[in-house]
Amino acid sequence: MKTLVINCSPKGARSDCLKLTKAFVKGLETDAEILHAAELTIRPCTGCYTCWRATPGVCVHHDDMPEVLEKLTTADLVIWSTPLYCYSMPAMGKAIIDRLLPLTCPEQKACEDGATFHPTRQENHTRHMLISGCGFPNRTHNYEALLTQFALTFHNEDFPRILCLEAPLLSIEEAAPAALPYLALVQQAGAEFLRQGNISPETQQRLDAPMLPPELYRAGTAQQA
Ligand SMILES: Cc1cc2nc3c(=O)[nH]c(=O)nc-3n(C[C@H](O)[C@H](O)[C@H](O)COP(=O)(O)O)c2cc1C
Repeated sequence: MKTLVINCSPKGARSDCLKLTKAFVKGLETDAEILHAAELTIRPCTGCYTCWRATPGVCVHHDDMPEVLEKLTTADLVIWSTPLYCYSMPAMGKAIIDRLLPLTCPEQKACEDGATFHPTRQENHTRHMLISGCGFPNRTHNYEALLTQFALTFHNEDFPRILCLEAPLLSIEEAAPAALPYLALVQQAGAEFLRQGNISPETQQRLDAPMLPPELYRAGTAQQA
């Protein structure tokens, strides 16, 4: 399975989320290519629509994005590895999402549920999944915006996902008794994905649970502050 990781963390290789993603990729038994957004030059979309009108499919910017688009459209699986920032993704990840515009056409189409979308310029088989970690111990009132954005951007409400609550624990040595079993579970999720194309409901349920009880975790962060 040709797998591309887009690491949206400004921390680059030191990212908590990348630890999760590497565990998942280990379960996939594949060598994934990792693009660190922090090391790429991705200029912000200027909204000129040149990629829709004057030069369909081609952006005015000359930076690293054409290479990203090429890799992204030829991968079987794209893993968006991103921390949660202000209930969404960091600006450098969002800059890449905005610059996906040349892959779409200006026409607007309606979905049955009332949503509107731009059809893609070329059909491709790429699956997109989300691996994200966050600093709070709760998903509700935290992940709604990112999940909605991802589902609408990639026209798939049922996209594969791993949302790790309390992700900073992954980088704290004393938290290893909680973090290592979680990473092993993420690897298992990768193995399931390889075998059956999805994460089993049992594994998903365990992945959705926080590593530590929220009260204990919150008390620990108060001590660190
Ligand atoms: C600017 C900023 C905004 C953040 N916003 C949120 C947030 O909305 N919800 C949350 O649970 N954690 C939030 N966090 C915490 C990060 O998601 C968390 O530390 C994560 O583990 C970082 O992952 P990384 O090491 O892969 O970058 C934020 C962190 C920063 C620096």
